[in-house]
Amino acid sequence: MIKIDTDNLPRHIAVIMDGNGRWAQKHTIGRIRGHRKGAHAVRTIVRACREIGIKYLTLFAFSVENWDRPPKEVQALMFLLEEYLRKELAELQEQEIRLTTIGDIDRLNPSVKEKLLHVKESTLKNDKMILNLALSYGAKDEIVYAVKKIMEDNKKGRIDIDELDKETFSKYLFTAGMPDPDLLIRTSGEYRISNFLLWQLAYTELYFTKVLWPDFKKDDLFKAIASYQKRERRFGLTSEQLKERNSQK
Ligand code: FPP
Repeated sequence: MIKIDTDNLPRHIAVIMDGNGRWAQKHTIGRIRGHRKGAHAVRTIVRACREIGIKYLTLFAFSVENWDRPPKEVQALMFLLEEYLRKELAELQEQEIRLTTIGDIDRLNPSVKEKLLHVKESTLKNDKMILNLALSYGAKDEIVYAVKKIMEDNKKGRIDIDELDKETFSKYLFTAGMPDPDLLIRTSGEYRISNFLLWQLAYTELYFTKVLWPDFKKDDLFKAIASYQKRERRFGLTSEQLKERNSQK
């Protein structure tokens, strides 16, 4: 088992869960069964993050672009999401995990949306970890939506454009109130951000692995965290400035 330092964990981990289709192809089964295996990996990783004390876990479960996949695949992904919500509510409660979402959930079919709202509402007070699902999510849409809301609020006299800064802007994003991710993991050997959290990833450490999402296990998560822990996060400063800052803490 890979060793990690539990005193230096990323507070927020974001994951682009990629490779379900290739996993299915490799095992000569249909793509949908690949997604089903991917849903199992979600369970494993949520449990592992909760166990070690990760506070925020954001999973890219369905992008705005994914609506253009074949209708059968979209339907299957919605079914898997609904099944996940139905089967996992008890565990989320037991583990005191709160479910939140980012993205345009109004586009989801009414029964999935209803389940989602029910699980969000039921887990509202849980505070050990936040499981944040990105559903019908696109970062460019999120930014445009924020700009529109800011303009509306400006018209209503609620916000003065001269006072608009990074902090205020962040409050208009779906992730309002959440810290930016410290670590982004993307599986399946692709080196892209794919319209995920474009604003929030500005200073995130990026970790890419060839492991396909359905094969991603606790040990792979630990490898990603161990890699994160070896890095020096300078946020634009020099190494010396950082050392000085840390010695003053
Ligand atoms: C990418 O694999 C994965 C997705 C588009 C969906 C992610 C969904 C799950 C992990 C399962 C359901 C989720 C929950 C929360 C229960 P891909 O199909 O793009 O893989 P490929 O690039 O190899 O074709």
